Amino acid sequence: MTTRNKTITLSDEQVAFYAAKCEKAERIEFSARNYVACGDFFEAAKRVGKESVDLLIVDPPYNLDKDYNGSRFGKMSDSEYAAYTRKWVQAVLPLLKKTATVYVCCDWRSGMTVAPILGEYFTIRNRITWQREKGRGAKDNFKSAMEDVWYCTVSKDFYFDLDSVKIRRKVIAPYRADGKPKDWFEEEGAKYRDTCPSNFWDDITVPYWSMSENTPHPTQKPEKLLAKLILASSKEGDLVLDPFAGSGSAAVVAKKLRRDYIAVERDETYCALAEYRLERAEEDKRIQGYDGIFLDRNARM
Ligand SMILES: C[S@@+](CC[C@H](N)C(=O)[O-])C[C@H]1O[C@@H](n2cnc3c(N)ncnc32)[C@H](O)[C@@H]1O
Repeated sequence: MTTRNKTITLSDEQVAFYAAKCEKAERIEFSARNYVACGDFFEAAKRVGKESVDLLIVDPPYNLDKDYNGSRFGKMSDSEYAAYTRKWVQAVLPLLKKTATVYVCCDWRSGMTVAPILGEYFTIRNRITWQREKGRGAKDNFKSAMEDVWYCTVSKDFYFDLDSVKIRRKVIAPYRADGKPKDWFEEEGAKYRDTCPSNFWDDITVPYWSMSENTPHPTQKPEKLLAKLILASSKEGDLVLDPFAGSGSAAVVAKKLRRDYIAVERDETYCALAEYRLERAEEDKRIQGYDGIFLDRNARM
């Protein structure tokens, strides 16, 4: 591969080095923050402070056969997956502040099982659908190129910052009132408007080999997606919890945006990737596709 490949790959020595920086799930201090815990979330949940979490971002294994670095998640029946979902919801519930927001990632099929359970415990406020550029073709079906994020809150008292998640878009029909631009501006010869986001996000790029956030994790979420969730629903210094952290994307973005984080992941290699990315975020706080305002997909930064 050419030198343009920016995928983060760690040697065995690096995995051992970065994994050693993680907390052990069974040894977490209740009041601790800003760590990756290596181990089972259901164990870790017993040791996270009660009512301490402002923002919960859950990207659970979807109900699919998936190999997570040798640990296989097997597709379940809908009722088994419902029981699994209920189990993690009940484990996180005591950790959430009354003002907390909860985002849960799903594909369309898992969502049919997950959403009714979320509705039992939380107020569901929206279903965000984001467009993946990639998707596997099928001979007898439409390609699945969308994923959902269910937006929920614990109560009616919650934080939401719409201005922080506006999108800069090119204006197709620039309207003038009294000869002056109406809600748009000109920059380097192009006309733009900062627009309010809808619940359909078509500006996200799934990490791939030439993006510096890319890792070998099979279901890594884009930093830009997480930046939207974190900016909309938390303030600086708030605590973000990610119980199924994978390569640590939520924690990395939380750190870049000056939020506190707790990330739990049971695979040691993924924990090491998360620690490596968090170390890199000390110096480099850039988020591809975000420049104080969200830019269109593949916009130059
Ligand atoms: C969908 S992936 C999360 C990907 C992550 N959002 C990212 O951007 O890299 C789910 C992760 O949950 C982990 N996992 C599954 N069950 C777990 C458990 N009981 N405790 C901790 N981690 C778990 C898997 O190893 C996998 O990495």
